[in-house]
Amino acid sequence: MNKAISGFSKLSKEEKIKWIANQYFSTPTEAIALLKNYWNSDEKIQKLHDEFIENTITNFYIPLGVAPNFLINGKYSTIPMAIEESSVVAASAKAANFWSTRGGFKATVLNTEKIGQVHFIYKGDASKLNAFFSQIKSKFYDETESLTTNMQKRGGGILDIILNDKTNLMPNYFQLHATFETKDSMGANFINSCLEQFAKTLKEEASHYNLFNEQEKEIEVVMSILSNYVPNCIVRAEVSCAVNELQEKQIPNPEEFAYKFIQAVQIAEVEPYRAVTHNKGIMNGVDAVVLATGNDFRAVEAGIHAYASRNGQYSSLSHAKIEDGIFSFWLEIPLALGTVGGLTSLHPLVKLSLEMLENPSAKELMQFVAVAGLAQNFAALRSLTTTGIQEGHMKMHLNNIINQFEATDEERVLIQKYFKKNAISHSSVESYIISLRK
Ligand code: MEV
Repeated sequence: MNKAISGFSKLSKEEKIKWIANQYFSTPTEAIALLKNYWNSDEKIQKLHDEFIENTITNFYIPLGVAPNFLINGKYSTIPMAIEESSVVAASAKAANFWSTRGGFKATVLNTEKIGQVHFIYKGDASKLNAFFSQIKSKFYDETESLTTNMQKRGGGILDIILNDKTNLMPNYFQLHATFETKDSMGANFINSCLEQFAKTLKEEASHYNLFNEQEKEIEVVMSILSNYVPNCIVRAEVSCAVNELQEKQIPNPEEFAYKFIQAVQIAEVEPYRAVTHNKGIMNGVDAVVLATGNDFRAVEAGIHAYASRNGQYSSLSHAKIEDGIFSFWLEIPLALGTVGGLTSLHPLVKLSLEMLENPSAKELMQFVAVAGLAQNFAALRSLTTTGIQEGHMKMHLNNIINQFEATDEERVLIQKYFKKNAISHSSVESYIISLRK
C-alpha cells in the first residue's frame, strides 16, 4: 500500500523523482529516465521552470504553433498558439486565409474594467452601515495610495468602490465592490493588494465608529479577492462580406451556406448542449493564444463561461446575420489579460510570442485573442455545415495514429498516400498497417 510522505517539498528534485519512481512505477529506472529526458539541457532555463511552481519534477510539453496571415484592423499578424489538439492551428490558418481576401477581421475593445470584492459580515442596522461607508469612503483611497501611485502614473487605478447589501442572498452578508483600471497588466496582484488594504481599513474604521453599537463595530471580513467575472472588460471581433463573396471551392452555393451557417449559430444560441460545444470551439482559439502569451487561461475560461450564461441560460458567444445581402459574424467576450507582469517577462517562449505579436498592449492582445476565437468558430461551423468535422479532423489526426503504431518512414509514406483517398479512422489505419506488415 502507498504511504504518505512528510516534508516532500523539502526534498531535492532528484530525491523527489526517486521517491515517486520507487513508489508508483514497476520499472523506476525507466520512469526516472523519461522524466529526465524532458529536462532542458540549458540549466538556466530549467531552473526558471523549476521555480514557477512547487515540486517540479520535469517539463510537460505542449506544441507552440503559429497561424499566419491574420488580417486584423487592416494589418497582418502571425498568431502564436500553444495547443495539443491536432486540427486547431490548421483551422485557424485556414480561416485567416479565407477572411484575408474578404476584408479581414475587425476587432474593438469595448471597455476594460476589472472587479474585486471584500466580502464581509455585518450584524446590525444597514442604514448605519451606509452612512459609515459614505463617511469613510475616501479613506479607502488614501490608505491604498502607496499601492496605487505607480498604477496611476500608467493611467490606471481604483475607479470606484460601492457598498452592496447582499442580505437577501445570505444573512448579514455585505460587500465592498470595487472597480479598477489596470492598463497593460492583468492586475490580479494590484487588485488583491488594494482589496486586502480595504478590508483592514473597513475593520479598523468600524471598530471606533461611534454611531455603531458594540456588535456593529465587529465587522467580520470573510475574504478579499478579485473577480474573474469581468462583464465590463469586453472585446468584440467580427467579420463580414457580401453573401456572394463567401463562394469558394468548399462553398459552391454561398446563399445556402450562409443560411445554414446562421442556423447553426442560432441553434447554439437557444440550445445549451450545443452552445457548450460551440463555445468550446471558440475556446480552442482563445486558450491557445492566452497560454502562448503567458496569461491565466483558467481565469479566462471561468469568466467567459459565466458571461455566456449572463441571461440565465448558457448560450452562444458568437452571433451571425444576413442584412442587405451582407453576411456578418461576430463575438463579444470578456477578457482580463496582461502583457506586463506575471509570466510575460519570465517565460522565454512567452516573451517570444509577445514579440511575434509586436509587443501588444493588453487591449491589442484582447483583440488577437478574440479574433483567434472567432476564426476557430468560423472554421468549425464551416466544416460542420459542409463536409462534416471528421474529414479535416482525422486528416490532422492521422499523424497521431501513425505515431501510436510506431510506423517506419517507409510505412508512413504508404499510409499517407493510401489515406488521401480512403476514410480515416483508428481501426482503418490499424487494419492498413497490419496488412502492410504481413
Ligand atoms: C473540437 O475541438 C471543437 C468543435 O467541436 C467545435 C464545434 O463543434 O463547434 C469542432
